Parts: sequence; C-alpha cells; structure tokens
Amino acid sequence: DVPLRELAAAKGRVMGTAVTGSKLTGTYGDLAGAQFNSLTPGNAMKWGSVEPTRGSYNWAEADQIVNFAEAHGQQVRGHTLVWHSQNPSWLTNGTWTPAELSTLLNDHIALEVGRYKGRLKAWDVVNEPFNEDGTYRQTLWYNGLGTGYIAQALTAARAADPAARLYINDYNVEGVNAKSTALYNLVKSLKEQGVPIDGVGLQAHLIVGQVPSTLQQNIQRFADLGVDVAITELDIRMTLPSDSTKLAQQAADYKAVMNACVAVARCAGVTVWGFTDSDSWIPSTFPGQGAATPYDENYAPKPAYYAIAEAL
Ligand code: XIL
Repeated sequence: DVPLRELAAAKGRVMGTAVTGSKLTGTYGDLAGAQFNSLTPGNAMKWGSVEPTRGSYNWAEADQIVNFAEAHGQQVRGHTLVWHSQNPSWLTNGTWTPAELSTLLNDHIALEVGRYKGRLKAWDVVNEPFNEDGTYRQTLWYNGLGTGYIAQALTAARAADPAARLYINDYNVEGVNAKSTALYNLVKSLKEQGVPIDGVGLQAHLIVGQVPSTLQQNIQRFADLGVDVAITELDIRMTLPSDSTKLAQQAADYKAVMNACVAVARCAGVTVWGFTDSDSWIPSTFPGQGAATPYDENYAPKPAYYAIAEAL
C-alpha cells in the first residue's frame, strides 16, 4: 500500500497524527514515521507538561518529538499555548492581577514559541475558547483579561515565530452551529482588526454515524474569510465492543471527513488524535467507548485506514 503521507502529499495536504514521545520506537515509531507527514504532540507541549514548577522546565518529550519529525521529514503542529486545561497547579491555584496574568501569558508564549522558532509549521495558539452556546468559556484567561486574551496571545505568538501558522482550535465546531458561528464571528473580527490569525482548527472528536452534514460547508465559510482550516484531532468513537458493522460505518465516516477537507482548497489537512487504538484518549475519557482510530491495538489497519487512503 502507498503510505498515507505520500497520498496526502500528492494532493498538497497534511495527514498527521498526535503522538506520545515515549512510544516512538518499534512498530509505533515505524508507523508514525512511515504513514504521516505531520506530528502533533498529544500532551508534551501543554503548559503543565513544560513548566510543572514555576521557572523549571521540562522540554524533553517535546524536543524528542520535534527531532523525530525532522528526522522523518515531517511537519509539527504545536499544541497548545493557551487553554483552560492541563495547566500547572502553580498557575491555576495562584491569585494573579490582570497585569501579572498578562505578563505570564506573554512570557510563556515568547519562551515556548521562541524555543521552536522556524521548526514548527503551525501552533494551536488558543484552544477551546467557547462554550457550546457560543458564549466565551470562563477561564483563567477570560476572567482575568477578557476576550482580549485571544488577540494578545496571537500577537505574542506572531512576534515569537513569524513563520508559524497561527490557529484557534476548538471542538464541536465541525458543523454549522452556534459554537462554530461564534468562532466564525471571532475570526472575522480578528481579521478586520489586523490581528494575526492564519487558521481555524476543527478538532473533530466525532461519534460513529454522526459526521455533521454541514462539515464541508462549514470548512468553506472559514476558508472564505481568508484563513486556512485544519482538522486537528480527528477520532470517531463507538460503543465497545466494536463489530464489523460499526467498523464499516466508521470507515464511511472517516472517508466523509477526508472528502470534506480535500474538497476545499484551504483545508490544509487532517490529523488523527492517535493513530492506534492502543494510544487513544477515548476509553479513559468516555467509559465504554473506544476503537476510535484507524489502527487497532495491535497496529493492524482497520477499514477506516483504507477509507482514508481511498479519499486521498
Ligand atoms: C487529551 C490527551 O489526548 C490525553 O492524553 C490527556 O489526558 C487529555 O488531553 N482536546 C484537546 C487535546 O485539545 O489536547 C486533548 O488531548 C483532547 C481534547
């Protein structure tokens, strides 16, 4: 079979996967290197991973993944700089004035983006800023700095690495709905204000049989604003155990997502959130659900794998 990365490259697209650095040896490393042309660290670049204690840094896993990607001719998506989750406890438990929060944000972005300057293709600068109804999520950042934290973060990231493509990333924004419309209005307003924003990430943590019918239309409306779109965290979960009927529906769903991206010129590509069921966040986060990725626990390609290949 032709590797997915070759099929994707022939269409000028990215086929990526999230990875865990410690697993990048043996079969896992072979497949990650051979099949994908982009890597996203699943956890290694989050604030809680890189600065668990204030002023003391742990870059080992992030560096390892970036080095692996360069050795395999792969892009890297940085994930993620500003989020409400997986922050260090010193940050979340602190009491900060707005001025202090602003400095913490700017310094964090300058340091982390600066460390990998020129080496990463893109950054998920802001992750998950919205609630389901399209209002802003009340986070450390929103509560302290207001909506301006988003423009501030993007501006700081641009200054630290002018070549990186800067994204806002969220979930349940794949179809046209209240949340994706809020994201659309934000991106439109940022563009009008001249704030550096290059793309929108649709996470796409989907459920078998439930690919939104408006996915392509939604990708297109963001593209029409003049930004790139990436499917950044695709997985399609099912109630366990899996069976051939569910796996066939899952394959059709993967193909539908791939087709929607390939149909829009500004859709940069698709990243799966783990390429094997043995390295997926789904079973621990959604009990009773799983089998969400293109390879099974033993690294055998599933129908979904072949469906991705057919769409590319
Ligand atoms: C998940 C990781 O995959 C897990 O290992 C971790 O325990 C929790 O975070 N949206 C995101 C990702 O943007 O960072 C999340 O990753 C999945 C949901």
